[in-house]
Amino acid sequence: MTAVGIDAIEIRTGKLKLDLAETFAPAKEEDPKKYTKGLGLEASSFPDTYEDIVTMGANAAKRLMDRKGLVPDDIGRIDVATESAFDNSKPVSTYIAGCLEDVYDGDFHHANKGERKFACVAATQSVDDAYNWIRAGRNRGRAALVIATDTALYARGDPGEATQGAGAVAMLVDEEPSLVEISTEQGYGSADETDFLKPNQQFPSVDGKRSVKVYLARMREALEDFETVAGRTHPDGFAYIPFHTPFPGMVRKAALLGFRHMTRNTDIEDDLEGEIGRQPRQDDYEDWDAYEDAIREYMDLLKETDRYETWYNRTIDPTLTFSRKVGNWYTGSVHVARASALKTAAETGRALSGERLLVGSYGSGAQAEMHAETVADGWREEIEALDFKEQLSRRYDLSFEEYGRVHDAHNHEKERELEEFTVPSGEFVFTGWGRMNERTYEYVE
Ligand code: COA
Repeated sequence: MTAVGIDAIEIRTGKLKLDLAETFAPAKEEDPKKYTKGLGLEASSFPDTYEDIVTMGANAAKRLMDRKGLVPDDIGRIDVATESAFDNSKPVSTYIAGCLEDVYDGDFHHANKGERKFACVAATQSVDDAYNWIRAGRNRGRAALVIATDTALYARGDPGEATQGAGAVAMLVDEEPSLVEISTEQGYGSADETDFLKPNQQFPSVDGKRSVKVYLARMREALEDFETVAGRTHPDGFAYIPFHTPFPGMVRKAALLGFRHMTRNTDIEDDLEGEIGRQPRQDDYEDWDAYEDAIREYMDLLKETDRYETWYNRTIDPTLTFSRKVGNWYTGSVHVARASALKTAAETGRALSGERLLVGSYGSGAQAEMHAETVADGWREEIEALDFKEQLSRRYDLSFEEYGRVHDAHNHEKERELEEFTVPSGEFVFTGWGRMNERTYEYVE
C-alpha cells in the first residue's frame, strides 16, 4: 500500500505578542506564575490590524507552495479548518485560493474546496478527509492542501483570555510523504457536550472547568477505542505524543492520565509498586467517590516518580515548546504540537525515521481522536525548513494598553480604526470590505 500522510508543513504566527508574565499578569494584578507555571504559557500571538484567518492561512500556504515548488495544478483539494469564520456560506478556502491565484500562474478551478467545523479537532478531520480521498484513488496524482487557521480571541475578562492565540498551519497531504505517514489505526471519543461554543457569536461561551473534564473524558475514550484497533498501548511505544494544546497545563493532565492507563498491568506498574503501590482497582472500593480519591492520591505520587518524569520530559514536554510561546491556535494547536516535537528532535540530533507518534486531537462539543503516525525519512529536512522561530522573534511586543486597542480592532461589534504595529512585506494583507460586504485582500511586495 502506498504511504499517505503529511508531506510538508508551514506555520504562520500572528505578528503581535502579548507577554503573559510581563504584561498581562501585572495589569490583572495576578501572580505571573499562574500563567507560566499553572497554565504553562509565556505569551500569546495576536493578529496585527491587517491580519486575519485568510491572510495567515494564505501566507502559510504560499510559503509551503514556494518551498515545495508547487503550482495550482498540483493541488486537487483545499480544505480550511477554522472556528473563526466570518461567513456562514462562502468558505474561507475560496478566499485563500483567490489570494494565491493573484500571485501564481494558473488557478485552482479544478480543486475541491471546503471548510470543516468541529471546534479544534476540525483540521485533523480535514487531514483525514484528504487521506481518504487519496486512498480512494480520486486524487488524480494531486495533493491536498489542509489549512488550520484561527484567531482564538476571548471576550475581555473571560478566564480564557489568558489562553488566546492566533496563527495558521498549512499542511500538504500527499502520497509518499516526507514528514509523517498516517496509519489506519485510529480511535474516537465523541459525545454531545456543552463545554465551549459560539452560537453565532464571535467570542466563545465557555465553561472552562467543565471543558477540562470533558477533554480528559473524551481523550480517554478515544485512547480506549484506539486500542481496540491497534492493541494495548505502551508509553515507550511512541517517540512523541502530541496532544491538542489549549494550554500546556491541560496536556500535563492528559499525559498523566494516559501514562496511568498505558502502564496498568504492565512491567512499569510492577516496577513502581515498591515506591507508590499498585493502581487502585474499582472493585476494591465501596463507592465511586472513594475510588476516585484513591486514584487522585495515586496520580499525585505517580507524577513525582523518576519513571514518569523521564517519560514526560522525553515524550510530552518537547511537544509544548511552541505552544508556550503562542497560546491556543484552536484548529492548528495539535499540529503545532507535532511540529514542536519534531523541531526539538532535529535540534537535539535525535534519530526519528520509522519511529511512531500517537496524535491526540480534541474539539469541544465534543470529540477526541487518536491516531498513530510513522515518521518518514525526509522529516529532518522538512522540519528544518520551518522559519517559525524567526517569526516568533520578530513579533511586536504589545503593552497592555495596545493589547486592549488591538483586541477592540478585531472585535466585530466595535468600529475602531487602528494604525498597524508592524510593516507588511512580501505577504497577503486584509484591505477592507467590498460591495457585498466580502473581505478584500492584496499581496504586498
Ligand atoms: N502558581 C502556580 N500555579 C498556579 C498559580 C500560581 N500562583 N495560580 C494558579 N495556578 C494554577 C492552578 O492551580 C491551576 O492548575 P491546576 O488546574 O493544575 O490546579 C491553573 O494554574 C489555572 O488556574 P485556575 O485558577 O484554574 O485558572 P482560571 O480559573 O483562570 O481558568 C481555565 C483556567 C483553563 C478554566 C481558563 O483558562 C479557560 O476557561 N480556558 C479556556 C477553555 C479551555 O482552554 N479549555 C481546555 C479544554 S479545550
